[in-house]
Amino acid sequence: MPTLLHIDASPRSDRSVSRQLTREFVLAWKEANPDGQIIYRDLGHNPVPLVTETFIAAVYTPPKARSADLRAAITTSDQLISELQTATDYVFGVPMYNFSVAAAFKAYIDQIVIPGRTYAYTADGSGSRTGLLKGKKATVIMSRGWLYRNGSPLSSCNLQEPWIRMILGFVGVTDIEFVVAEGTAPLDRGEVGRDEYLRPILEQVRLKAGLGLA
Ligand SMILES: Cc1cc2nc3c(=O)[nH]c(=O)nc-3n(C[C@H](O)[C@H](O)[C@H](O)COP(=O)(O)O)c2cc1C
Repeated sequence: MPTLLHIDASPRSDRSVSRQLTREFVLAWKEANPDGQIIYRDLGHNPVPLVTETFIAAVYTPPKARSADLRAAITTSDQLISELQTATDYVFGVPMYNFSVAAAFKAYIDQIVIPGRTYAYTADGSGSRTGLLKGKKATVIMSRGWLYRNGSPLSSCNLQEPWIRMILGFVGVTDIEFVVAEGTAPLDRGEVGRDEYLRPILEQVRLKAGLGLA
């Protein structure tokens, strides 16, 4: 069954641009996949735990040798990885914070990039690694306050998109579509109308979700 994993990482609610765009994606995806199911993770409002010493010890202890404490330390990680494995499609709403990703999304990534679970060493002994999440399709909706494209002097400061592409590829997710909502700062200052700003991006989002123009 087609299953969409929907993740929001903005701590904002109605003011969030990325949340509005993922919401539109989900509506369009449901229309295109009437039998599909949705798994939702609201990292912005319910962040996952940061990595702890016990968590690290658990990751590097073989499953059969784990104590109850070690098993408990990776319960969330196991659940998050199971969601990634179950879903066929992903939509992630990820704000740029300090030129990279919002910390809630980084904490999520730290929970799901786990040896033997989402990546593994290849059998040839070369030390190469391969991602284990195969055949997934991801749409990543990135919001950011300033402008980075079209020769912007800030273009080299954008560590959000290359990092997301790299880390998803590391766990095997290489079919990735990006939707960019940049230059959101004038919205927050009330200098640009929200509907006017969002209209063309909402159209892109509907197309990525498998629907034509409304
Ligand atoms: C703590 C913080 C750091 C931010 N850092 C950046 C930044 O480095 N570059 C940028 O373009 N915008 C930055 N912004 C602006 C956000 O990316 C922008 O408001 C975006 O729309 C947030 O996503 P949201 O609308 O889904 O909440 C920052 C905002 C906050 C609150």
